[in-house]
Amino acid sequence: MPPSPDTTPAGAAPKPRRVVVDPVTRIEGHLRIEAETDADNVITRASSSGTMVRGIEIIMKGRDPRDAWAFTQRFCGVCTVSNSVAAVRAVEYALGYPIPPNAEIIRNLMMATQFVHDHVVHFYHLHALDWVDILSALQADPAKTAKLQQSISPWPNNSTEYFAGVLAKLKGFAAGGQLGIFANGYWGHPEYKLPPEANLLAVSHYLEALAWQREIIKVHTIFGGKNPHPSFVVGGVPCTFTEAGGATGVSAQNLRLVADLIAQMQKFVNEVYVPDTLAIASFYKDWGTRGEGVGNFISYGEFPLGPDWNDPQQRLFPAGVILNRDLSKILPLDPEDPRQIQESVAHSWYDYSKGRQTPLHPYDGETVLRYTGPQPPYEFLDVDKSYSWIKSPRWRGQPMEAGPLARVLIAYAAGDKTVRGLVDHALQQLGLPVSALFSTLGRVAARTLETKLIADAMTGMYGALMGNIQQGQLETFNDILFDPKTWPKKARGVGLMEAPRGALAHWITIEDGKIANYQAVIPTTWNAGPRDANGREGPYEAALRGHKLHNPEQPLEILRTIHSFDPCLACAVHIIDPHGTELVQVKVQ
Ligand code: NI
Ligand code: MG
Repeated sequence: MPPSPDTTPAGAAPKPRRVVVDPVTRIEGHLRIEAETDADNVITRASSSGTMVRGIEIIMKGRDPRDAWAFTQRFCGVCTVSNSVAAVRAVEYALGYPIPPNAEIIRNLMMATQFVHDHVVHFYHLHALDWVDILSALQADPAKTAKLQQSISPWPNNSTEYFAGVLAKLKGFAAGGQLGIFANGYWGHPEYKLPPEANLLAVSHYLEALAWQREIIKVHTIFGGKNPHPSFVVGGVPCTFTEAGGATGVSAQNLRLVADLIAQMQKFVNEVYVPDTLAIASFYKDWGTRGEGVGNFISYGEFPLGPDWNDPQQRLFPAGVILNRDLSKILPLDPEDPRQIQESVAHSWYDYSKGRQTPLHPYDGETVLRYTGPQPPYEFLDVDKSYSWIKSPRWRGQPMEAGPLARVLIAYAAGDKTVRGLVDHALQQLGLPVSALFSTLGRVAARTLETKLIADAMTGMYGALMGNIQQGQLETFNDILFDPKTWPKKARGVGLMEAPRGALAHWITIEDGKIANYQAVIPTTWNAGPRDANGREGPYEAALRGHKLHNPEQPLEILRTIHSFDPCLACAVHIIDPHGTELVQVKVQ
């Protein structure tokens, strides 16, 4: 619908218009963005709303802590490994429960696979279509596309015939009016900048990545029995090593398959994902100054590398906080300190027993639902009051961005040589300054670069596991504390981890062998949360403010920046309106 005419009486300040995107698609879960714009279509205030609630924290109470991973894994069908690892770590931390080195390494391999899988799928299947115009690809010359591919990497699918085949397939979709997964894009929008050949290249890799991801995720099946939702266990991992395999056994043949899958991950990342990101980014350098969030970053650190598995220094990514873009200092982080991490519900649909204006540390966290929003169908949320099912986590009162950019910046600030090398090389290739990292483009590039770092590190993880096995160290599970009768009457702990989307933690309180309280703060809680009691925006809201929309009817710019965070709104079956009303809508009023 066209923007409504300005009916403001003469003399009054013009009323901001609102662009509503609900639901934001190509994400996990249900997100609504309401963006207020001025007469030049510049966003003056954005409000981020999680429109669905699950309440899994509520149903955790009274359960066996050893089952926590299986419930929290169901937050979502994407971040399954992440929430499971956070849950088993929380219980192990609370009980002081040691696990064998092989279990640490196998969890690392499963988490690393999750990162590589998740980031590649996000880039090609969730985010690329914000930058790649499918219909423009129809104009491409396959011979020129082949030349382009040969110029950026040694990836073998690089012939004119190969790209002519992809083009024929795409033309078939288009001629039949069956764009299918490519339907409903803002094709032809003038903000799309890639030449047709680069668009065809990206479409080819979109299709190749679909087949590739199905293969490499087998690592989860080998160690965890299945995917999605592989199995975990408090005290280790639920697999053993045997010559023949068997019900829980990982055979020598499957261990060789893991090596092969790691090689497949590395090849695709090095020869497709990294060069594609840099090639596409070179057409969108203006996005290196747009879409900065709050300028504060948090990471719990990840991939313990041993030999001291609990030493925070011995990790692939360091932990810490960066405030106000200041890369000269990494501030220490203690998630058990009640003054550090707190969740506000001042603008969320929850009640707190001490009042909604008083934020709570997750050990004392409460999940009491209190919906005060409008009844559907509604036009707008009341964004001056409560407008989201997401809480607003803060570190020492400050909003924080979590995710690949946070991890890469903290590693960069810590002087990590590999990260510095990767980041500086990419910036040099694009001709961009370090400040370009604080942007939508920086977020996309950081995700790609950390994927390379993690995929490369998997060689060392795998080598360490094989070394242990060859020395006869086969232990994968430790049963010394498995019986709740051996536990203290009261215990509490936090399970920290870095998920692909960022800092993830579960806080558990155990009493008499049962869960007394359970609170999870997931990466998207940090990034997508609403304003807090002091009116401070969350990262999505801060990142959108200032965007100029070329065409409010097709708010491509909003999608670019929101997708750069890789939202996961934790995470339910899709809701179907029983009346068949259109669910994807962009409303301009
Ligand atoms: Ni998720
Ligand atoms: Mg929570």
